[in-house]
Amino acid sequence: KTVSFDYSKAGKFLGADELQNFKTITLNARDTLLSKTGAGNDFLGWIDLPVCYDKEEFERIKATAKKIKEDSDVLLVVGIGGSYLGARAAIEFLSHSFYNCLDKSQRNTPQIIFCGNSISSKYIADIKDLLKDKDFSINIISKSGTTTEPAISFRVFKEMLIEKYGREEANKRIYATTDKARGALKSLANEEGYESFVVPDDIGGRFSVLTAVGLLPIAVAGIDIDELMAGAVATREEVLKKGFEENPSLLYAAARNIFLRKGKNIEVTANYEPSLHYVSEWVKQLFGESEGKDNRGIFPAALDLTTDLHSMGQYIQDGARIMFETVLDIEKSPAEILLKEEETDTDGMNYLAGKSVDFVNKSAMNGTILAHTDGDVPNLKINIPDMSAFSLGSLFYFYEFTCGVSGYILGVNPFNQPGVESYKANMFALLGKPGYESQREELLKRLG
Ligand code: PA5
Repeated sequence: KTVSFDYSKAGKFLGADELQNFKTITLNARDTLLSKTGAGNDFLGWIDLPVCYDKEEFERIKATAKKIKEDSDVLLVVGIGGSYLGARAAIEFLSHSFYNCLDKSQRNTPQIIFCGNSISSKYIADIKDLLKDKDFSINIISKSGTTTEPAISFRVFKEMLIEKYGREEANKRIYATTDKARGALKSLANEEGYESFVVPDDIGGRFSVLTAVGLLPIAVAGIDIDELMAGAVATREEVLKKGFEENPSLLYAAARNIFLRKGKNIEVTANYEPSLHYVSEWVKQLFGESEGKDNRGIFPAALDLTTDLHSMGQYIQDGARIMFETVLDIEKSPAEILLKEEETDTDGMNYLAGKSVDFVNKSAMNGTILAHTDGDVPNLKINIPDMSAFSLGSLFYFYEFTCGVSGYILGVNPFNQPGVESYKANMFALLGKPGYESQREELLKRLG
């Protein structure tokens, strides 16, 4: 079973006639995507990836994951943005909630620690503490090979690895996922003999979770990557073949843009399952970096519920009416906890005796959806059948396809990210990087 889309609670904000009126524009956007005639069409490798990936590399990923499992207590995954979020989303969604805290005997796989996604000295120092006395390996992931955040972490931990094992053995514990032929990391990998994996030329970072970028760390965590791909294959077939009215991805892309045109500028992706936190982060990156440009776009926000109902819930219910909400609903929880009756009903919860915690969670979700709808926050729902690798593969592809179509409806190039360069240029100038001398003077003056 694949993910499905439910807009039945969108209420007055999404009439059947409005969706019909949006049919042509949505189908045109889909055709632009599939005929590869739109802006950014050299970054569409993700469309066919689930059915035409490099099978030899896929097997090498599995073999490498096995080696890392055997010789490492910790895998350090070094990357940022699209070179980080997919793997983290999958591992957090599909693993034990306390994966890294379990005894190795309970986990049977290495701890996975992500770094290179900030420039925090404390974070790096804390990982150094954690790695003392542990066997570890590094998966450095960077398509360009020159991104500052991962490059800094890689320097620190590569040095630590060499100190611990000597250069030759250290090189056997470094796995580089990068461009197949170009870039600083590829050159280093060639020089030092690191095992390398490829970020395909025609797949941008945020669409790369089903390449080696995501698959190697995911496989090290013991997740079945065949199942992940199978879920993506199933949804690919569905969204490529189905007509507008039955197509979850086309309907979602249309609904988002209809809301935007009604002034709903923010999409709140809401989950009721803590393990979905990083899936929501991945969604935020996918939509934010793909659509937020040319002074346009829906601002992607995310909430973890019911946690945030006790904080942001007030705003969603009652603040400025500028958002719509998309709920990620896990249809079947993998765990059943039944509530028991207590002799003295101090907290007044005895009426729930015999009910499951998941029933309570679902009731909270259904009640909240209606409350938000009553508060003029239109609701959309994405149903995720269960917490399996298959369902997650389906969800990843569903979002990627929706994003491509939605970006073309919006009229932007969903596959570039010119805006992320501005902070880098200023940071380089302030750091004194050669070539940025004139900007440096100007920025220092502005900073006073
Ligand atoms: O989606 C993207 O393209 C970005 O988020 C990149 O993945 C991110 O900037 C990291 O880039 P790189 O893999 O070149 O280090």
